[in-house]
Amino acid sequence: MEPITLAVLAGTKRVQRRSINAARYVADFARRQEGVEVIFVDPNDFDFPGDGNDPEGKDPRYTEIVRKADAFFIITPEYNHSFPGSLKRMLDSELQLYNHKPVAFAGVSDGNWGGVRAVEALLTAIRETGLVSMSWDVYFPWVQNIFNEDGSMKAEHVERYERNLGKLMKELFWFARMLKAARAELERAAQNQQ
Ligand SMILES: Cc1cc2nc3c(=O)[nH]c(=O)nc-3n(C[C@H](O)[C@H](O)[C@H](O)COP(=O)(O)O)c2cc1C
Repeated sequence: MEPITLAVLAGTKRVQRRSINAARYVADFARRQEGVEVIFVDPNDFDFPGDGNDPEGKDPRYTEIVRKADAFFIITPEYNHSFPGSLKRMLDSELQLYNHKPVAFAGVSDGNWGGVRAVEALLTAIRETGLVSMSWDVYFPWVQNIFNEDGSMKAEHVERYERNLGKLMKELFWFARMLKAARAELERAAQNQQ
């Protein structure tokens, strides 16, 4: 099986963030899948001066991750019916390197909605990047009730999330392998024309 690289993006820098548990769970789950290398991206670990995607506005380490990634999984909490500014800032710092790569989403909230409006809001921006979004998502409503103090998932939730994430990742990795092969083909065709 063609190995692929998955970048798992945590969506917020909020000091008391709970969605980081969901993001780490998604990353750990992905690490258990065959032929997948996982890079965990915490926006706290990167520096994006100013706004936009000028050379000065990039973090070279994030650039390299986006270049290397064959697929993305974004875990976004919902802030005022949208997604956090730090996630937008991070996504904005690159453009071409996202093109023709698949992305899946998980929404997170401390109430009933599970971050669905954050994911819907994110789709508008994602479309412009050239990332290819999956047609369903995973949600973590009432996130404060899903994880233990140590960040592990409470036993009663594991079966449901393993099932839902397993299905979504299967789809995501299928797209990742297809699009990786197609990008390589495009590159070969472009080189042959030189
Ligand atoms: C600035 C801010 C705005 C928020 N707005 C919403 C909202 O519009 N809808 C919602 O369901 N939860 C909202 N929440 C609560 C989040 O669902 C909650 O913080 C949850 O734990 C997930 O995000 P976290 O990683 O910040 O903890 C908001 C939280 C913050 C900090």
